[in-house]
Amino acid sequence: MNLQVGAKLIGVGKAVPRSVVTNADLEGLVDTSDEWITTRTGIRQRHVVSEGETATGLAIEAAKDAIGFAALDPAKIDLIIVATSTPDNLYPSTACMVQAAIGAKQAAAFDMEAACTGIIYALAVGQQFIGSGTFKTVLMIGVDVHSRFLNWEDRNTCILFGDGAGAFIMQASQKENENDMLATYLRADGSGGHLLCIPNSGVHYPHVGTTPEKATHRFLQMNGRAVYEFAINAVPDAVKTACARAGIEVKDIDFLVPHQANQRIIKAAAERLGFSPKQIVSNLDQYGNTSAASIPLAMADALMRKQIIPPAVCVLVGFGGGLTWGSAIIRWTAFDQRQITQENQNKEKTIGSTI
Ligand code: COA
Repeated sequence: MNLQVGAKLIGVGKAVPRSVVTNADLEGLVDTSDEWITTRTGIRQRHVVSEGETATGLAIEAAKDAIGFAALDPAKIDLIIVATSTPDNLYPSTACMVQAAIGAKQAAAFDMEAACTGIIYALAVGQQFIGSGTFKTVLMIGVDVHSRFLNWEDRNTCILFGDGAGAFIMQASQKENENDMLATYLRADGSGGHLLCIPNSGVHYPHVGTTPEKATHRFLQMNGRAVYEFAINAVPDAVKTACARAGIEVKDIDFLVPHQANQRIIKAAAERLGFSPKQIVSNLDQYGNTSAASIPLAMADALMRKQIIPPAVCVLVGFGGGLTWGSAIIRWTAFDQRQITQENQNKEKTIGSTI
């Protein structure tokens, strides 16, 4: 990659709606069981938006969380990219709403869509802007509220998804020859678009929703088996190709941070690649599939519970509708600045109390 300026990730953040829907709750809606959902997917619960909660609101919260992590002045952000398939409005974009809400006075802002791979696409785009010297600080957010597009009478799909947002902040490296974005890899195969889709959800079908019959066309549809097969091949492809681009081997990677869709997909792909269970980052049981949000959400949680302790080489892998898939190999070196401040204050208190 011939980028002139190196980039590093300096922050991560997350936000989820307040309300939790457990597998037991779903037993009351469709013909399913906690045992079926847990064994087939690994999901135990998911967060779902309530009245008044929005994709924009979640994106803003995740952005603020990442800004706090990095102890960054929002006025220093040059670009905001929001990856989402479920924006509140076609425009203004979610990114513009975030820009205003966080006080990123100097920032450009736009949305992009690559379904569950969206945050990987956003990382790659952010890196290009930094690498070319155009921007110094980029905020990338993945947010999705799929609960609004689920048929809560379809047990094949409604059990899988949850709502949420996750964010990364990337900055131009201060030091010469320093680059923590070791490689990115993006792919698409539109011939499989019908396998995972929300048909007639755009302008193609302008009168959608006017009758109950037409309204059903706006539900997410999925061929679960075919998507499963696609995913267990896409993850190893994405990891191996990104490793080759970074000039490293899979054994040089400390952690696999995959899109959180199904624990069986994660396990099968990880086994093929030779990752041990300790190297796999997963919080799928708590959140379900949060689409574009899942990777930063998983990263934020893994840092919080100290599964990942910087510095660590992580491969982030996305796959989903489009079909799309891709990966980013990063060297994670950032610490939560809020915790550092807290620790320092505690130290000062201890010193003070002994005097
Ligand atoms: N509860 C109980 N039974 C269910 C069910 C549910 N929620 N959903 C499906 N079933 C039934 C099916 O109707 C089928 O019954 P049948 O044998 O009588 O026809 C049976 O369980 C097996 O269905 P099948 O589709 O073969 O199950 P599976 O083991 O392939 O698991 C998925 C289904 C959806 C969990 C799995 O295919 C999957 O995770 N695919 C990938 C989906 C995904 O990740 N999408 C997002 C990608 S970003």
